[in-house]
Amino acid sequence: MAADVSKATPPEGNERIQHASAKDAAGGRTRPRLGWAASTLLLILAVPCIGVGIKYYRDTQLSTRHEVGLKTLGPEGLFLFSSLDADHDLFLSPEEFKPIAEKLTGVAPPEFEEEFLHDPDGETITLTAAMQPLLLQTMTKSKDGFLGVSHRSLRGLRSWKSPVTPSSTFPASHFRIFLPPKGKGELGEAWWIIPSELNIFTGYLPNNRYHPPTPRGKEVLIHSLLSMFHPRPFIKSRFAPQGAVACVRAVSDFYYDIVFRIHAEFQLNEVPDFPFWFTPGQFTGHVSLSKDASHVRAFHLYVPNDRSLNVDMEWLYGASESSSMEVDIGYLPQMELRAAGPSTPSVVYDEQGNVIDSRAEGGEPVQFVFEEIRWSSEISREEAARRLDVTFYPFKKVPYLPFEEAFSRAEAEKKLVHSIVLWGALDDQSCSGRTLRETVLESSPVLALLNQSFISSWSLVKELEELKADRQNLDLSEKARLHLEKYSFPVEMIVALPNGTVVHHINANNFLDQTSMRPEEEGATSFSFTGGFEDPSTSTYIRFLQQGLEKVRAYLPS
Ligand SMILES: *[C@@H]1O[C@H](CO)[C@@H](O)[C@H](O)[C@H]1NC(C)=O
Ligand SMILES: *[C@@H]1O[C@H](CO)[C@@H](O)[C@H](O)[C@H]1NC(C)=O
Repeated sequence: MAADVSKATPPEGNERIQHASAKDAAGGRTRPRLGWAASTLLLILAVPCIGVGIKYYRDTQLSTRHEVGLKTLGPEGLFLFSSLDADHDLFLSPEEFKPIAEKLTGVAPPEFEEEFLHDPDGETITLTAAMQPLLLQTMTKSKDGFLGVSHRSLRGLRSWKSPVTPSSTFPASHFRIFLPPKGKGELGEAWWIIPSELNIFTGYLPNNRYHPPTPRGKEVLIHSLLSMFHPRPFIKSRFAPQGAVACVRAVSDFYYDIVFRIHAEFQLNEVPDFPFWFTPGQFTGHVSLSKDASHVRAFHLYVPNDRSLNVDMEWLYGASESSSMEVDIGYLPQMELRAAGPSTPSVVYDEQGNVIDSRAEGGEPVQFVFEEIRWSSEISREEAARRLDVTFYPFKKVPYLPFEEAFSRAEAEKKLVHSIVLWGALDDQSCSGRTLRETVLESSPVLALLNQSFISSWSLVKELEELKADRQNLDLSEKARLHLEKYSFPVEMIVALPNGTVVHHINANNFLDQTSMRPEEEGATSFSFTGGFEDPSTSTYIRFLQQGLEKVRAYLPS
């Protein structure tokens, strides 16, 4: 199925690389982790050279084990086995067997949270969760009444109507994971709370998993927060860019206001149904807390609902990882966590030094009065969100303007409109444009050309259809019509004159077919450490843009 560009990506090339490096990624659990930059460098060097010999040995060994597994368990049984086998060595460690043990015994082993020792005198904060389930009628596949979609595939989705934990109390000190690391406290300067471990070489994480890996370090709190919605949040999404970033939005003598953005997803189905991945565009929000994290003044986490579609869904309908996958997108009206109030101490002392339990039953609840926070410097929420955006998506170093604004700006600056029309959004995880932005759109030559000669914009098909239907604005309606005339599924890249005439366009699938790396060419690919990854798609995209510039001359005889 051609539904997702990312699946139509440089297929063989990426698959092969993925195998060689999946071990490195998994090995990170046992080996001391190198710095991110160092390990990337290592990967770059290791993949083409040393990789080959080791990979050959390992592949032979694995394929033997795979055959034995298939004989013993059959395809469905082996699928289930593999879903637990996090490091793909076809052996289950006690750690990997843990979800099954918990399921069968009903007993979860004690959590060892090395970083957080419970302080009984510390403050606690209560969060409440709210959600309205995904509107099934917004899914494309609802158009024919989910004809041909097995009832079992959607079981997890249909039955998920409300948060599993409507309210939960956390020690305020756990929110220290949101504090800036040393040297990162500048307003608007973004840092990674949970760094992405995926890159163009690692490909993506497997779809055939049911249970999230045990969260570690800073993942623990985020895992607990998202677990209030559903018991199976995956803090590391299958696709890049994964992880969580934050920046300081405002600062006072004692407090920070920190804005964050998290790319995580949920797996909704249980055995024997196949996995169903529910990937909101993003989780964002802010936390106001004291610089020592002893007090949390405000906390809000939510999935933005201001676009017409905000969740990507992918589900398997067979035991084969690659071929049997369905994709759809839909609209989730609400998913959010809010603090019921600031964090408060559970124990307070009266003037004589006697302990009063502030939550004692029966007695008058203790009233806390909080001083107002006066920020000594701050940036706007929008600006902070933009900083996080660019950290996740370097392609946004050139601005992508809304449709209408792009045309008026292009008119004013005498530039062309570089426009991308997609079925799903370009800049979040509910998206079919992943491949584009991870390769061509963030490569420096493309960024430079776009910056110099184009005004960029991207739009959802659905939004253009609404503009087209708008009789109040005939000019814009006509521009949208001209765009849609050239659109074909799933993504179309367009070069247009400021008056809306389309001078050049290319469909993403054709584009990727033209540029997909053949496996035998892999070794010959040149790596440029300064300019990023120079792949054939970058030069093809440059050519596409230049052709657009040339074609304009036909319209402007001068
Ligand atoms: C875009 O061009 C302007 C002016 O030439 C320059 O200051 C800016 O750094 C450029 N941005 C990028 C992302 O290349
Ligand atoms: C836009 O301008 C070009 C060149 O001036 C012209 O050929 C074309 O017909 C115009 N298109 C529209 C939709 O007005």
